[in-house]
Amino acid sequence: MARKLLIDCDPGIDDALAITIALFAPDVDVVAITATEGNVAAAQASCNVQSIVEQLDPPRYPRLGMARGGDAPLTVDARRIHGEDGLGNTGFVVSRLHHGHPSEKIITDLIREEKENLTILTLGPLTNIARVFGADPSLASSVGRLVMMGGSIQAGGNVTPAAEFNMHCDPVSAAAVFRSPSTKILVPLDVTQQCAEGLSFIDELPPDTTRAGRFLRCIVPFLFRSVRQHLGLEVVYLHDVLALLVALYPERFETSEVAGDVELEGNLCRGATVFDRRPRPDWRTNMEAVVRLDGPWVRSKLRDLIDLAGQRSGH
Ligand code: RIB
Ligand code: CA
Repeated sequence: MARKLLIDCDPGIDDALAITIALFAPDVDVVAITATEGNVAAAQASCNVQSIVEQLDPPRYPRLGMARGGDAPLTVDARRIHGEDGLGNTGFVVSRLHHGHPSEKIITDLIREEKENLTILTLGPLTNIARVFGADPSLASSVGRLVMMGGSIQAGGNVTPAAEFNMHCDPVSAAAVFRSPSTKILVPLDVTQQCAEGLSFIDELPPDTTRAGRFLRCIVPFLFRSVRQHLGLEVVYLHDVLALLVALYPERFETSEVAGDVELEGNLCRGATVFDRRPRPDWRTNMEAVVRLDGPWVRSKLRDLIDLAGQRSGH
């Protein structure tokens, strides 16, 4: 039976790559893609979700959710890494920028419809999820699983020395979701930074005679240029793609029960994820975290799924 997947994201080039793979992966039914602000502002994230689906024209169109800005103004974004438009400044024109339903409504409706059959994959800040659980706390226990890209156990931060971007953007929402009774799997920087690809990755993308190939060859090169220019890196970290693989193939990853929370105060550590790893912890465990991956399997699976997206996306 196909896994029912809702992707909540802030596209973002690695978000877009994860969405491309998911829309054409076997045994996956992407029932919705909901936008949240993060890499780019809410309106742009909403536009990007529509652009991505239109560019890929998948056999089954997911329901789309439109982002509403966070309760606090966005203090940071990642446009220098993902482009002013979040998709490598490709300037995709959305044919019908329909003013769809708010992301929170789509998420709420699908949890009520699909219950334990639904996996929610979060690839951006947890603003939408916190709103949904805050409006109806019963939904936190009703959804099957939450797979969250974000946080850091021992890997430090990326947007600040202490905090990972998704958690730093909206730490209040992140803390609320961490404390919710939902079944959670965290995919932290400790493992996503092992999902690194060099420039040769571009040559391995599907040909531009395919829809997926054309789309990915438009956006992925920008990411390599920007991380080199702004971060001094010769590789890109496919954070959101690894989180998707965890959502689709959880049995292939080693996890550990952890007790985590999010720092809400401070100039230096706001948004940092903190875990009680003392010999005799007194925080209660509240989620699983991926602690180990099979690198060769991840590389091989990633390539197989991207090739499949090329084949299935047509011309
Ligand atoms: O820290 C990495 C995360 O921040 C990824 O989801 C990336 O897309 C950005 O949102
Ligand atoms: Ca993201």
